[in-house]
This record gives sequence, structure tokens and C-alpha cells, in this order.
Amino acid sequence: MFARLAVATVALLLVPVVPASAAGPLKDRTNRYVGSAVAAQPLNSEADYRSVLTREFDSVTPENEMKWAVVEPNRGQFNWSGADAIVNYARQNGKSVRGHTLVWHSQYPGWLNNLGSSELRSVVQQHINTEMGRYRGRIRAWDVVNEMFNEDGSRRQSIFQQRMGDNYVADAFRWARAADPSAKLYINDYNTEGVNAKSNALYNLVRTLKQQGVPIDGVGIQTHLSIQYGFPTSMRQNLERLAALGVDIAITEADVRIPLPADSTKLNTQANYYKQVWDACHAVSRCVEFTTWGFTDRHSWVPGTFPGEGAACLFDTNLRPKPAYTRINP
Ligand code: G3I
Repeated sequence: MFARLAVATVALLLVPVVPASAAGPLKDRTNRYVGSAVAAQPLNSEADYRSVLTREFDSVTPENEMKWAVVEPNRGQFNWSGADAIVNYARQNGKSVRGHTLVWHSQYPGWLNNLGSSELRSVVQQHINTEMGRYRGRIRAWDVVNEMFNEDGSRRQSIFQQRMGDNYVADAFRWARAADPSAKLYINDYNTEGVNAKSNALYNLVRTLKQQGVPIDGVGIQTHLSIQYGFPTSMRQNLERLAALGVDIAITEADVRIPLPADSTKLNTQANYYKQVWDACHAVSRCVEFTTWGFTDRHSWVPGTFPGEGAACLFDTNLRPKPAYTRINP
């Protein structure tokens, strides 16, 4: 009897403690979309990755699979395998899709560099038509223009800016509306969480676009944060002023990186950051989506880009929930 009790006690102790389960899956804690960036490779090959994704989230954003360099590495040669896999997963599992991204200075194919102004213009329109057309009706929201500002609020001198001029942004949105009238069209950027020079520029541009009748529906706030820097405490105020322009807001790429090694103090600080992002979104009725840039430290872009930093996601490398997962609650 005692032996059996002892065995039962040991067994109980061995069961991983998942305190968050009391609150239920993330997607059931809110009426916002709760999303994650996903990569087709682990989606297709790691059963535990797929099952946590399916359990916790109701929206997915392809991390790289819809970027121009991936879908059309050579002119006229298309590779839709990763994007198709994610969109099909979403359809089969009742998930919403955020398309990412159409016009971006990074991860575009090299052959664009050889094009003059008018050819680039028609190629960008064609790209938007082709990609949005392929998934017409199956993408809830698209990041149409991504990361177009410098930190000081000036326009980034991308090939699109340099060769197509200031109007490339309005043009891209008009082409996007025509390509899939059912998709919400977003401008998306990073370091625009709080009120600062860059978010001022974003605010001013969105206001102008709205005044001009350009079909823009939303602003994506990427929210790549680090506990090394203070939390952008004016985030709620910034989301409120943007929403007041008559657009939706989405948290599109949230993660909170940590100088390694992580410890419980750092993980608690991280949890506080995630919670503040979650709360800022929920304080603004037009903030419709809370998406994280990946959900597991097993597959995060952070260590590759910021050596010595990592552990930025809600789940650890073994897909165990971290303190931040528990903290983000209504
Ligand atoms: O697919 C190739 C592979 O064929 C090649 O062998 C390998 C060698 O380096 O590279 C692979 O491509 C990598 C790609 O991720 C897919 O894994 C690229 O090198 C690598 O640069 C790329 O990084 C992505 C990055 O965007 C590119 O700028 C990250 O995964 C992705 O998380 C990151 O996402 C961005 C958002 O799109 C926009 N906002 C910022 C965010 C984080 O940087």
C-alpha cells in the first residue's frame, strides 16, 4: 500500500508541471487572433511542433515562405511549396493566415536589381497580383509594405523607394486591393511600439494615405523586444493614436530576447514584457491580433542574428511553456 503510494507520489513528481494549463490555450484566452510565425520545414517534420501550434494558436504567418526571394528566386520561376504547405495546413486546421510580405527591402530576388524604374514598377504590380491572386480569399491580412522607414523616420532608400519614388507605397496598396479585395492590407514595421521618431513617421504616413483614399486597413507593430532595453511604455498611447486614424492594429512579430544564459529572473522580466504587449493590445479595441515571431526557442531567428541572445519565445526548446506563457492572460 505504502509502496504503491510512494510510486504514485514519485510518478506525480515526474509529471511536468504546466501551470499555464489552468488558463487554457492562448487562442482561448482572448477574442483577438493569437498567431505565430511558422516555418514549413518543422511543420512538416516535427509532430510536437505541429501539435503545439495547432493547440495554442488560431493564426499563422509564414516566417519566410511567402517572401519574394523564396517564391520567385529567378524571374518567372516560382516555388510555392512552403507557402502552399502552410496555407493548406491552415485550411485543414481552421487557422487564419497572415501573409508576409510583398514589398520589402530584404529577401527580394537579386534579379530585381537589374531593372529600371518602369520595369520595376510593373514587376512589383505583377508580383502582388501573382502572389495575392494565388491565395485569394484564403489570407485574412497581408503585410503589403514592410519596414520602409529608417530609425529617424526618414524613408529607407530601398530599390523601391529609389526607383519608383514616394508613390510606391500608395501604388502597392492599390494593386493589393485589386488583387484580393477580401484581404486586410497592412503596413508593418519594427521599433514602432512606443512613440518615437519612427512611429511618428509611420503615423503621419498612414494619416496621409487615409486622407488620400489609399486602401490601407491596418498597421502592423512587429514588437521585437529585448529585456536589455526598457519596455516602450508609450506603447498603448501609440496604438491608440494609430487606431484613431481609422485602421486596425496587429502585433505581428512579438518576441522578447534575453542575454544568455536565461535564468528565472530574466524569464520573469521577459514575462512582464510579454504581458505588457498583450495588455497594450487589449487596451485598444482595434488591436485585433497578437502574433509572436515563432513560438519555440527551438526555431527562433534570434540567436542567429544576435549572438549571445536568445530564449525569446513563449515555449522552450522542448516545447514546455515558459513563465511568459502563463502571464499572458486577460
Ligand atoms: O533558405 C536558405 C537556405 O537555402 C540556405 O542554405 C541558408 C544559408 O544561410 O539560408 C536560408 O535562408 C535563410 C532564411 O532565413 C530561411 O531560413 C536566410 O539565410 C536567413 O537570412 C533568413 O532569416 C530570416 C530573416 O527574416 C531574413 O531577413 C528569418 O528566418 C526570419 O525570422 C526573419 O524575419 C523577419 C521578418 O520577415 C521581418 N521582420 C523582422 C524579422 C526578424 O528579422
